[in-house]
Amino acid sequence: MEYINNELHFGPDKKNLMSLCANYIRPIYVYDLDFIRSRFNQMASALDGVRLYFAVKANPNPQVLQCLKMAGAGADVVSLGEIKRALESGFLPEDIVYSGVGKTRHEITEALKLGIFQINVESLPELERIGEIAKALGKKACVALRLNPDVSIQTHPYIATGLRDNKFGMELSLLPDLSSCLKRHGDSLELVGVSLHLGSQMLEFSGYQEALIKLKNEFIKLKKEFPTLKRFDFGGGLGVVYEKLDLELESRLLNEYAGITKGILGDLNCELQSEPGRWLVAHAGVLLTQVQYIKKTSVKTFVIVDSGMNHLIRPSLYEAEHRILPLQEGQNKITCDVVGPICESSDFFLKDYQMAVVREGDFLAVLDSGAYGYSMASTYNLQELPLEVCI
Ligand code: LLP
Repeated sequence: MEYINNELHFGPDKKNLMSLCANYIRPIYVYDLDFIRSRFNQMASALDGVRLYFAVKANPNPQVLQCLKMAGAGADVVSLGEIKRALESGFLPEDIVYSGVGKTRHEITEALKLGIFQINVESLPELERIGEIAKALGKKACVALRLNPDVSIQTHPYIATGLRDNKFGMELSLLPDLSSCLKRHGDSLELVGVSLHLGSQMLEFSGYQEALIKLKNEFIKLKKEFPTLKRFDFGGGLGVVYEKLDLELESRLLNEYAGITKGILGDLNCELQSEPGRWLVAHAGVLLTQVQYIKKTSVKTFVIVDSGMNHLIRPSLYEAEHRILPLQEGQNKITCDVVGPICESSDFFLKDYQMAVVREGDFLAVLDSGAYGYSMASTYNLQELPLEVCI
């Protein structure tokens, strides 16, 4: 992000954002596909030998998916909707790993008919269900067990998933029951993997390291019982820095994460899989919004814009801070709350934020919104969804 001749330019290739607002009608998510490709290549080379499945939930835009497919990614999906989107965007069934705690009978049936590569199972009843459905279809389902290591990571509690009181994964004490279920359904279930996902926006790796060591031991024990076991899926979750763009720091964190992963899992001699979402796309997206009103009260200056929690819910839901920059550089600063049009006091982007003075009609860029932005948008208050543009 950089101002050139007073106009904000986006991404490593410094693309001008102002030109996108020429026929502005409503907020626009802008994604830089070159940036996404370079992030993918960087992660793929740090995690050399690991198959990367992009977590579609982070950004299901068809062009983004096509770009990642072309770069060599697979897709990690959590619903039939995401399976369909991935297939429409060029992924093949054998590129798709299907996760998620609430798979319905219909979803499992469709996934098996399509020949989805791997189903990551989240509970004993789900394993039973997959076994029954596969048997009725005369198929053999390739399953991975998502294990919950009961380990915490430093992140917002709403996006931590690896603790015993989270709904995700299965406790290690359940392994004997899982094993007998797998044997009972031996003709319709094939155990191919163990999977782990501790949570999202992880920037410190001690919990991750502990979890890998725990699950590595379980993998070794399970493999003796099930020789078909051949994959370890170590999840997604690598975080990004939102406070400022610091790609060097992120490279160091990526290398640390890759080093820990390879150091622990390297000698398992199995296929390694990962499901990154945020790291690949967060910085490659901005949300463009227009200032509607400057509203001053005795205590605050509100910059009221035409986008809000309906388009980017992360500030309201996780107290996430996305920096905001006006597209036109200004000299003087104001301290303001940047808020949206939605009828909720939680509808804000930033509070007490120092920003260049803006006026009605000016455009703002909400930064780092390429992950979990549009994919979590809603039509609350019957506001329209934002547009999406790939550059
Ligand atoms: N795999 C599984 C099974 C997941 O549940 C997730 C994310 C990922 C992979 C990708 O994680 P990532 O690499 O993106 O951290 N809406 C929240 C994030 C929720 C993440 C949910 N699961 C946010 O905006 O911060």
